[in-house]
Amino acid sequence: MNKPRIYITREIPAKGLELLSRCCDITMHRGKEPPSREDIQINIQGKDGLLCMLTDKIDSEIIKTSDKLKVISSFNVGVDHIDTIEATKRGIYVTYTPGVLTNATADLAFALMMSAARRIAEGDRNVRNGSWRGGWAPNMLLGEGVYGKTLGIIGLGRIGTALAERASGFKMKIVYYNRNRLPNKEKKLNLEYRYLEDLLKESDFISLHVPLTDETHHLIDSQKLKKMKRNAILVNTARGQIVDEDDLADALEGGWISGAGIDVFSSEPLPADNRLSQLKNVVLTPHIGSATYHTRNLMCEISAMNLLGVLKGENPHYLFNIEVMKVRSLDSIKMI
Ligand code: DGY
Repeated sequence: MNKPRIYITREIPAKGLELLSRCCDITMHRGKEPPSREDIQINIQGKDGLLCMLTDKIDSEIIKTSDKLKVISSFNVGVDHIDTIEATKRGIYVTYTPGVLTNATADLAFALMMSAARRIAEGDRNVRNGSWRGGWAPNMLLGEGVYGKTLGIIGLGRIGTALAERASGFKMKIVYYNRNRLPNKEKKLNLEYRYLEDLLKESDFISLHVPLTDETHHLIDSQKLKKMKRNAILVNTARGQIVDEDDLADALEGGWISGAGIDVFSSEPLPADNRLSQLKNVVLTPHIGSATYHTRNLMCEISAMNLLGVLKGENPHYLFNIEVMKVRSLDSIKMI
């Protein structure tokens, strides 16, 4: 039997690559920039599997041009970059990497909360650029405290829950909003449920942990920002499009809220002339929620195993579009 042919859209850590190269013919995109749309279109021709990243938009048009694709394995937990409905229609398995980046992302959300509250990035800039004059001063770089404050978590999935665990060590009062109430977690972590509007009014820190969907697109807009406390700090490590960035810039400029810590943007990389980069009261990081050595290695291994699982005709560890099994059975795919 011929080896399955796969296309990988970025250079990936060695362990995952090794796993894949044992049984597949690999074409891998090299270079710092992601492949262009045309590159992807050309390279998925004749391929049985695609291992892609959140930077690759795998929309219906791209999926339709693929002639042999059986599996799209996302390196990421978010699959908003893939048209999963079109993939399902065509019997293409879509896999992802949930769970493994929970702790790394929750750590970053907490770090952004702390940095925005205590103006760490601003302080760092002042030390480096010589604008720190006169040594210690009673009014220099005053910020907000975190210990004992109220944290509002929007979306109590894996990462939201991991953030709550961290916040309880800081004796924070934790309120949450989620599509469904989660009584077990409420009890275990001492959380209180709030309607969204109430959470916005009550929280000193608000952290977003919902997936990007039609319902969560611009969930945080000027109307919601105006409901927050004037000393509130907003943290987003989920997806940029969940926040209307122009409205956020208005809120930060106009003092409707006191600050923000943002890791994800509607357009990445963030264009240099973006309004947010001009503001002092926002800490910006370049989508590094999962960027620990350990986590990225696991993401790589899992995405490789997911892809191989499907091509072996076995249940992959993490299948996103379970309904696809009704369209094409794993048995009929088995190539390895
Ligand atoms: C994901 O995998 O969706 C994360 O955003 C990467 O950090």
